[in-house]
Amino acid sequence: MKALVYRGLGLKAVEDRPKPAIQAADDAIVKIVKTTICGTDLHILKGDVATCAPGRILGHEGVGIVDSVGPGVTVFKPGDRVLISCISSCGKCEYCRRGIYSHCETGGWILGNTIDGTQAEYVRTPHADTSLYRVPEGADEEALVMLSDILPTGFECGVLNGKVAPGSSVAIVGSGPIGLAALLTAQFYSPAEIIMIDLDDKRLDIARKFGATQTINSTGGNAAARVMALTGGRGVDTAMEAVGVPATFQLCEAIIAPGGIIANIGVHGHKVDLHLETLWSQNIAITTRLVDTVTTPMLLKTVQSKKIDPKRLITHRFTLDKILDAYDTFGRAADTGALKVIIST
Ligand SMILES: NC(=O)c1ccc[n+]([C@@H]2O[C@H](COP(=O)([O-])OP(=O)(O)OC[C@H]3O[C@@H](n4cnc5c(N)ncnc54)[C@H](O)[C@@H]3O)[C@@H](O)[C@H]2O)c1
Ligand SMILES: [Zn+2]
Ligand SMILES: [Zn+2]
Repeated sequence: MKALVYRGLGLKAVEDRPKPAIQAADDAIVKIVKTTICGTDLHILKGDVATCAPGRILGHEGVGIVDSVGPGVTVFKPGDRVLISCISSCGKCEYCRRGIYSHCETGGWILGNTIDGTQAEYVRTPHADTSLYRVPEGADEEALVMLSDILPTGFECGVLNGKVAPGSSVAIVGSGPIGLAALLTAQFYSPAEIIMIDLDDKRLDIARKFGATQTINSTGGNAAARVMALTGGRGVDTAMEAVGVPATFQLCEAIIAPGGIIANIGVHGHKVDLHLETLWSQNIAITTRLVDTVTTPMLLKTVQSKKIDPKRLITHRFTLDKILDAYDTFGRAADTGALKVIIST
């Protein structure tokens, strides 16, 4: 089968790989129908994710058809159409029982990281019963690909951890797919202000269409002053970091209001200064989270009932044999206007 393989710092290639086989009783083999590329895949290529070794098939998002199941799988059978969660969970270990699927003792974020992922014709999904979701009859499968990772990530790491509340003020630093997913799902709670911040005017235009009340291009370096001006000098109640570089976390530190929450979403490859000399007295909280995907069933209902339309995030479509073009388009988003790219097999 064809697969996109990480080959070391900055290197990737399309290779022929053997079709994966069942290894454990609760595995399923899923034939990929649609997959996509994540900002995290770009972090892997930048060398930010030490756990992902060269030779790994990338990808942790997708929709597919169950091809075969191990003897322990009871919920799914060959032919079932399924959404693949970016997080594999056994459902039984201490962390899974606490809803912290991302830290499952035999799962977590393993797909396209420590085991082969979804940017291929087939993928082996461990703990299939508790890591796959049935695609509802008549569902739009492209929209559902947005539920593998980006919608639960924006919602859980940003909106839930950031305790977005009616009438509150929110700033989301980073208007990429994750920041936009946080923007879409923050509106479940009717905050008064949602300020989107990015370096890219095209993405900020989209953010306004998706419900941002204000947008700030931070290229000039005065984003913090502008947020303070927009909030009467108070700052925001929730500041979400949706980029993964020191500058954007520090911007969140600069714009958080007393009593506020900095909700980190970004994957960081470098240390960041924590300004406790100014923040110690501000009654703030800082949260971090690897997405758990505990909210996937709930988000699936909001997509099915058209409360949100994540398909708006899809800008480009490719076939698997053109996945290198898809990476090029996704990696040069400022030039290409790409948000999420759909790759069909
Ligand atoms: N915590 C989790 O579980 C989890 C899950 C998935 C993704 N992520 C991470 O979330 C982050 C966002 O993902 P994405 O797919 O939206 O990434 P992306 O790279 O597509 O988007 C990042 C956005 O940040 C903007 N940006 C870059 N530098 C900036 C700066 N200095 N100031 C303001 N904006 C800046 C870029 O223009 C871009 O629009 C990544 O770090 C990704 O790895 C985390
Ligand atoms: Zn991802
Ligand atoms: Zn577990």
